[in-house]
Formats: sequence, C-alpha cells, structure tokens
Amino acid sequence: MQTIVLATQKGGSGKSTLAIGLALAAIQAGHTVRLIETDSQGTLSNWQARRPYAEPIVEPVYVAGDVDQRLQSLDRDGVTLTIIDTSGGVSAATTTAIRHADLCLIPARPTVADIEATASTLGVVRAWNKPFAFILNQTPIRGQRLTTAANALSEEAALDISGVVATPFIVMRNDHQDALSAGLAVNEYAPGSKSAEEIRGLWQWVEAKLNAGATVQEVLVGELLEAPLATMFVETPAEAAAFVA
Ligand SMILES: Nc1ncnc2c1ncn2[C@@H]1O[C@H](COP(=O)(O)OP(=O)(O)OP(=O)(O)O)[C@@H](O)[C@H]1O
Ligand SMILES: [Mg+2]
Repeated sequence: MQTIVLATQKGGSGKSTLAIGLALAAIQAGHTVRLIETDSQGTLSNWQARRPYAEPIVEPVYVAGDVDQRLQSLDRDGVTLTIIDTSGGVSAATTTAIRHADLCLIPARPTVADIEATASTLGVVRAWNKPFAFILNQTPIRGQRLTTAANALSEEAALDISGVVATPFIVMRNDHQDALSAGLAVNEYAPGSKSAEEIRGLWQWVEAKLNAGATVQEVLVGELLEAPLATMFVETPAEAAAFVA
C-alpha cells in the first residue's frame, strides 16, 4: 500500500478538495482507495455523509497514536492507496501522518501567505526525508503570478521546479465547490470539465512521482533557502480578471 498525505499549515488551501479529487482519480485508475481524515473539522466525513455512493470510505482518525495501526490494517485489507487529509495548523496527527507517508503533497494558493505557510510543513517533511511536491491550487488561468509562485516554491525547496511543483496547476473554478456540496468529486460532478481534466492530469503527475520514490537530490538537499517572497505577487487588474468567477 502507498500512502499520500496532504498537509500544510495554511487553512483553506485545498487539502480536503484535492484529497477527494485525487482519491476518485486513483479509483478510476484502478486503485483500491481509502481516505483517512485526521482533521476533526470533519470536511471529508461531512462530504461522505452527503455522498450518494459508499466508496471511497472515509475513516476519521483523530488521535495521532492510532494512525500507524490504522494504516497497517488497511494494508492487510488490500487497500492499495491511502490518502490522508490533515488539518490546518500544526498537530501531532499531521506529523505522524507525514512520518508514514510515501509522498507528501503541500497545496498552496499562489499568494505570499500560503507560500510562507508551507515552510513549517516542509521542515517536518524534510526531517523525515519524505518525497514531497507542492500543488498550486485556486490559481488564475494564466499570468505572471503563477510563474512567480511556482518559482518561489521551488526556490524554497532548493530543488528544480519540474520535480517539486506538480502540474497542471489547479485553477479556481466553481466546479470544485459545487462538487463538494453535492458529495461528489469534481471528476464525478463534471467529468468533461476543465477542472476534472486538471485533477486527472494531477493524479498522473502524482502517480509518477509516487512510483519514482525519493530522488537522490531530495534526500541530499538539507537547508531551506530564503525566497524573497515579500517582493512578489503584485496582482494586476488583468491577472485578477483571469480568475474564473
Ligand atoms: N481549485 C479550486 N477552485 C475553487 N474552489 C476551491 C478550489 N480548491 C478548493 N476550493 C474551495 O476552497 C475552500 C477550501 O478548500 P478545502 O476545504 O479543500 O481547503 P483545506 O486546505 O482542506 O482547508 P482546512 O485547512 O480548513 O482543512 C472550499 O470551499 C473548497 O471548495
Ligand atoms: Mg480540510
């Protein structure tokens, strides 16, 4: 069994939404998937309660000490992929989940605050030598802001952008919010949409990264580099207009 953890200190960056989207994309690709929720806010449990289908099962595991045993039992049950959705902030459950991860995914909106907030998560991920990638979420369709954000993240990780910033970026679209309230993943709610296409593309990137495991570079690189974040992200009216309402 492989385990993916979605984590970042910043609230609202898309951990739960991406966990759901990736879970459904992985199921469609043939995986037996379980979702673990360590966030007592219960976004995934509430989503499942609205859901017209039984799969994927969401398992709330709010006590850090229970994560290890839960993963072992899922592995025994034949689950091939577990995706763990963690809470914002810093918690023992998140650190434990990261410790058990085969791949840590760190979502960030293309804003200074979101990117700065990835640093503490990245610190934990690096302390456990875990493969990781950033996912840019809720992005405009195009614009300088995106390139700047992607560059800032790869600088922060001191790694080449292609290995550390997942593609495609996930654009801000209402489909994601509407799917969540309907108890569906975006790939079920609007299968032919751009949002679904992006999530399927993201799954393909994540799957390749998962199968590649830790690169030598990731294991060797140690300290974080300071990115000149405060000087970035001047939003122009044209960029603002590129957001989809
Ligand atoms: N790409 C997107 N486009 C539009 N809305 C999005 C997108 N991604 C997430 N959202 C919306 O943003 C809100 C926050 O997303 P989500 O709950 O997934 O974030 P989170 O990181 O899990 O938050 P928390 O830290 O509170 O658990 C939700 O209403 C969700 O529907
Ligand atoms: Mg959440």
